[in-house]
Amino acid sequence: MIEKVLIADAEPLTLRFVEEILKRQGKEVHFVENGALAIAKLKEEPFDLIITDMWLPCKTGLDLLLIAKEIQPQSLVIFVTANGSVETAVDAMKLGAFHYLLKPFSLEALESILQKAEEHIRLLKENRYLREQNAKAQCPHLIAESPQMKKILLDLERIAKAQASVFITGESGTGKEVIGSAIHELSSRQGGPFIKVNCAAIPESLIESEFFGHERGSFTGALQRKTGRFELADKGTLLLDEVTEIPLALQAKLLRAIQEQEFERVGGIRPIKVNIRFLATSNRNMQEAIEMKVFREDLFYRLNVVPIHIPPLRERREDILPLAHYFLHRFCLENHKPLKRLTDRAIQKLLRYSWPGNVRELGNIIERTVVLDFDAKIDAEHLYLDPLPTSKTPVEKTSLPVGITLHELEKRLILETLQTHHRNRAKTATTLGISVRTLRNKLHEYGFTE
Ligand SMILES: Nc1ncnc2c1ncn2[C@@H]1O[C@H](COP(=O)(O)OP(=O)(O)O)[C@@H](O)[C@H]1O
Ligand SMILES: [Mg+2]
Repeated sequence: MIEKVLIADAEPLTLRFVEEILKRQGKEVHFVENGALAIAKLKEEPFDLIITDMWLPCKTGLDLLLIAKEIQPQSLVIFVTANGSVETAVDAMKLGAFHYLLKPFSLEALESILQKAEEHIRLLKENRYLREQNAKAQCPHLIAESPQMKKILLDLERIAKAQASVFITGESGTGKEVIGSAIHELSSRQGGPFIKVNCAAIPESLIESEFFGHERGSFTGALQRKTGRFELADKGTLLLDEVTEIPLALQAKLLRAIQEQEFERVGGIRPIKVNIRFLATSNRNMQEAIEMKVFREDLFYRLNVVPIHIPPLRERREDILPLAHYFLHRFCLENHKPLKRLTDRAIQKLLRYSWPGNVRELGNIIERTVVLDFDAKIDAEHLYLDPLPTSKTPVEKTSLPVGITLHELEKRLILETLQTHHRNRAKTATTLGISVRTLRNKLHEYGFTE
């Protein structure tokens, strides 16, 4: 979205009229009458769009273009030039100008270029975000052989076509995000952005600005204006991943933004309208989360229009082998290795295991065996399955291990509690009396990846 525009023109008439039009569209417009002032402005604050006459006192439009490219490479430059100087306009285009307008120009010509600029800026913002999100998220392949998963897939197309919010629950690693992105891909919004925000991974103090963006200077450290994920998801889908980890204080604001499809940036006053379809996921028991007042009931009902529950892998064993073969194929290809084969004993071992980390754990184990280059065959002993307790083993009542640091003791307690709960992070956090976010950070610190 174009928000801030810099106009530079020595002859007030032509571009004053452009200024009027832009202001009427709600843009913030700064008008300067020579090149030196324009450059000074560029050094002060960012602009989405610069419209300049080719002939300016002090510095020419071309100087301005070159300097803008250097200090504000994200901004678009449109040139206005007299009809006789098409060649200069061509030079400007070669140097990276976005467009040019030949004087005198019609209102239609101006509006058509502004519209192009608007679209271009939207795509730039979207692309920048997607690149940051590491391009790993290729459209995932969905494996579904068990009756439970087949039923989910059967409904998925219909669910995707609706505009209603979807709430996806299931243990960690069951495939909630995969289902979320499949919904976006199958929906009419598929050409629009698919934005994910992992509510457990963002520090509490930054969540609001991550969602809604912020204005420059709205808090210490807000050096630049930031576009929030809500704005990026406009005309697309926003996946609120692990939504139960949003601090209670922010949940009311979130509910309002979802209901009204409108919000303000942190430190901003102008409401921003969006058109977003919402998907949410959680690995918690939602009834419990609501009873424990971790999650607002009204927000849950707003998001839970269509519920999808993905059962843990141990309850849909028909999926284990097809998934193992799918991962085998994928990781052999990715690592440039000939396709490996699972022996019968390996298959038996996979089928008998309890998979506390669900599909994610299966993928990790297959990847590990592929990378560690055994034979062309993968046998049972190549599959290193973490020896986890099969039932809740009560914590041994031994005396405290005096002689280790508090830090070490904390680490041991956290890891043991995690094992006891079959790596279920929500339960582990509850037992330890800490938030899932804190648990996640600690595990991260210990070098635990998912
Ligand atoms: N049905 C499935 N088919 C193929 N891959 C899957 C499936 N379910 C999960 N995965 C893979 O397992 C991993 C974990 O899935 P993810 O959606 O991130 O789980 P969750 O969000 O529930 O923790 C991902 O790498 C994903 O691609
Ligand atoms: Mg997830």
